[in-house]
Amino acid sequence: MKSAFITGISGQDGAYLAKFLLDKGYEVHGGVRRISQQSDTRLRKLGIAGDVKLHDFDLAESNGIARVIRLLQVDEFYNLAAQSFVGSSWDLPIYTSDVNGLGVARILDCLRTYSPHTRFYQASTSEMFGLVQDVPQRETTRFHPRSPYGVSKAFAHYMTVNYRESFDMHASCGILFNHESPLRGVEFVTRKITTNLARIARGGKEPLQLGNLDSRRDWGFAGEYVEGMWSMLQQQKADDYVLASGVTTTIRDFVNFSGQALDMEIEWVGSGVQERGLDRKTGATIVAVDPTYYRPAEVGLLLGDASKARDVLDWTPRVTIKDLASMMAISDYDALH
Ligand code: NAP
Ligand code: GDD
Repeated sequence: MKSAFITGISGQDGAYLAKFLLDKGYEVHGGVRRISQQSDTRLRKLGIAGDVKLHDFDLAESNGIARVIRLLQVDEFYNLAAQSFVGSSWDLPIYTSDVNGLGVARILDCLRTYSPHTRFYQASTSEMFGLVQDVPQRETTRFHPRSPYGVSKAFAHYMTVNYRESFDMHASCGILFNHESPLRGVEFVTRKITTNLARIARGGKEPLQLGNLDSRRDWGFAGEYVEGMWSMLQQQKADDYVLASGVTTTIRDFVNFSGQALDMEIEWVGSGVQERGLDRKTGATIVAVDPTYYRPAEVGLLLGDASKARDVLDWTPRVTIKDLASMMAISDYDALH
């Protein structure tokens, strides 16, 4: 039986990866913070809370990292934990750098010292491309991060590459574009949209307040992206791979697709901060713009080219953006029943 340790197992990707590995017959261990608000909520939603072994874990705590690595000697170590909300990283730049950047240096050095046979996966991100230098972006595209979050992840990415090259460690980075699901945190824009439209479809009156509606993302379904993570660690040689859908969609269109799934037709009027989304049937305002959600710096056109993952890992996403919006909106609507 193979064994794996997942940091961030209480998060969206951690829960899907844990389920995927359990289904493959792995013994699954996970790291959780003492202060976690929902340490097993998502695991319970997937029906696997009793099947994983949870350990106290914090990326800021070197001794705890060393302890689990020495003790468990797992075959595969997936680092999915992070201060993952880009918007907060401008207010928490030091903390974000410590957890997302130095946290990875702590893990890599412990693996090198205590468990060099363990294969390592690092959760890198399309945010590293930031002010994009090429469209679409692939593994060779130069990074230009635009947020403290992106900078911290670029540090972690290069640290992983460095340990691979210096110590011949099997350490790979998945450069993942945005991926969402009904388990997505409610602070991220897709889930904020689907939870609020579900509330409005159930009779709620308060409009959904959003920031930049023209912003675009390359969105996929998280359940498929964790399969790519696993595939990377099954390769003979460690390497870095982009996982992306290759389709770009505006925030406004994600609102439209989610609304359609809930039988709401949205008509857009006005522009800039005056723009509003109206319910075509009642004329009521469903969506309004609140500039407090604008970011100090936005990224360019993030659009991924996942052809290396397709050719080497045989990984191709199947869930379309419309299916994804619909899956999330209906799940949130049903949860309010
Ligand atoms: P998520 O749902 O926000 O989960 C983040 C996880 O990290 C949570 O389990 C959280 O635990 C844990 N965590 C936060 N700070 C920690 C610390 N100091 N020590 C230990 N654990 C800590 O994120 P996700 O969407 O699953 O993303 C997984 C990873 O992929 C992250 O590293 C993210 O940056 C990266 N990524 C995500 C996407 C995406 O679109 N989802 C794209 C590219 C890369 P608590 O429960 O205690 O908060
Ligand atoms: N969160 C949020 N809330 N974003 C909004 C809002 C709002 O009310 N209105 C507009 N947006 C825009 C943001 O300005 C951004 O351009 C876009 O929606 C997506 O924001 P998020 O959903 O917060 O995700 P993200 O792209 O910044 O970060 C996610 O994807 C990265 C991969 O590129 C996170 O999962 C990161 O951890 C991940 O690395």
